[in-house]
Amino acid sequence: MTLQHPARPLLIVVLAAGKGTRMKSAMPKVLHAVGGRSMLGHVLALSECASADKVAVVIGPGMDGVRAEVAKLAPAASVFVQADQRGTADAVLAAREAIAGWAGDCLILYADTPLIQAGTIQKLRATLAAGAGVAVLGFHAADPTGYGRLLTDSAGLLTAIREEKDASPAERAVTLCNSGVMAFALGDTLRVLERIGNANAKGEFYLTDAVEIARADGAKTAVVVCPETEVLGVNARDQLAVAERLYQTRARTDAMANGATLIAPETVWFSYDTRIGRDVIIEPNVFFGPGVTIADNAYIRANCHIEGAHIGAGCRIGPFARLRPGANLGDNVHIGNFVEVKNVAMSAGSKANHLAYLGDGTVGLEANIGAGTIFCNYDGFNKHKTEVGDGAFVGSNSSLVAPVKIGAGAYIGSGSVITKNVAAGSLAVERSTQEERPGWAEKFRTVMGRRKQAG
Ligand code: UD1
Ligand code: CA
Repeated sequence: MTLQHPARPLLIVVLAAGKGTRMKSAMPKVLHAVGGRSMLGHVLALSECASADKVAVVIGPGMDGVRAEVAKLAPAASVFVQADQRGTADAVLAAREAIAGWAGDCLILYADTPLIQAGTIQKLRATLAAGAGVAVLGFHAADPTGYGRLLTDSAGLLTAIREEKDASPAERAVTLCNSGVMAFALGDTLRVLERIGNANAKGEFYLTDAVEIARADGAKTAVVVCPETEVLGVNARDQLAVAERLYQTRARTDAMANGATLIAPETVWFSYDTRIGRDVIIEPNVFFGPGVTIADNAYIRANCHIEGAHIGAGCRIGPFARLRPGANLGDNVHIGNFVEVKNVAMSAGSKANHLAYLGDGTVGLEANIGAGTIFCNYDGFNKHKTEVGDGAFVGSNSSLVAPVKIGAGAYIGSGSVITKNVAAGSLAVERSTQEERPGWAEKFRTVMGRRKQAG
């Protein structure tokens, strides 16, 4: 969804400076993933959805990984470093260069709050367009502990945000809470932020003080309320798990709304970019990592792990299959139990139904890969390609030692170790000739039986 407000240009400032010490991680908090993408990635994607004209990201000192994630996902965004963590207002002011002289609206997002929907941002923008000087995104908290409380007057207009540590008992009883998302109308941002002080329980510069300052200036200050599930902030791993659960619930609902059947939706895990066609059936316990597309009528049986793969129309996958990055399956391909496919393009109608490893290669139209086939793609230094032609038949328990080509329509005898190219239409067998000694078993049993008795 793309939202346009052509008359009101938008600057989005993303606060990502928090170290997130409660995560107990070597990695900055905002790089932890929800639905296969970093929390920061979700917020940058939201900024794109909101058609921000300019994006500024505030990071902490030494957060090279966060800087790299911004460069990768939002190359046009500017990055600012907040030297010391002196509060949320101080963090926004680290992006002063981006805000100064900005005549449009300004929206502040937290990078540790990854579940906000584009429609909610649209409501905040509409509130500014309707005349509010400051619009705050609020929610009714089941348990308001730790959140800033939104204090309103009899007309429902926002009068102040009170941090819990500074709140009176009556104010603490309020359950309408601050999500942290705040929007400032046309050009007001810097003028308000520069007057925020740090006379509070934590001695920090609170962004939330902007409400009282703007109001004293005569600006209208408004609340937009959204579901609590959109504004969960992640400070520790248990909250990361809650965010994941909420994200997956939404993804499963979307998948079903778009025409997929999930037999046990609560056991299927999607990534942010999983694309599913119509009439796809997904059995229980299937995990989709990033980069998966599934065309119409595919059937994914139980217990599959799938990432970076394209599954063509009418394919049958699993149970217990693993598709890794670069598995590109044409229409009606069958991948059966305990088959792993990595970086192999399989043409329409080809099959690998049992116990195989297919890595780095191509499989032609209608080709059949027998049980136990291995593409020996790696020599300890380099990866090599295996090419199986159209209509070829690879007998069970064959090793195809790459680089190697099996011509169209060729047969590979079971148990062969194929190290040389096989011409189209040939039979290649690589195994010692079978020897048979008639009556041998009976003689053997007699001799051995006697020895045992004797001894
Ligand atoms: C903040 C709000 C609170 C709200 C809550 C919602 C303030 C003063 N309080 O409280 O009203 O209910 O979020 O989750 O704004 N950050 C920086 N630099 C700083 C301080 C914070 O970048 O110097 C970033 C953090 O990384 C985080 C965000 O700003 O992403 C919020 O900071 P945090 O300290 O978690 O604020 P809360 O106490 O949760
Ligand atoms: Ca927080």
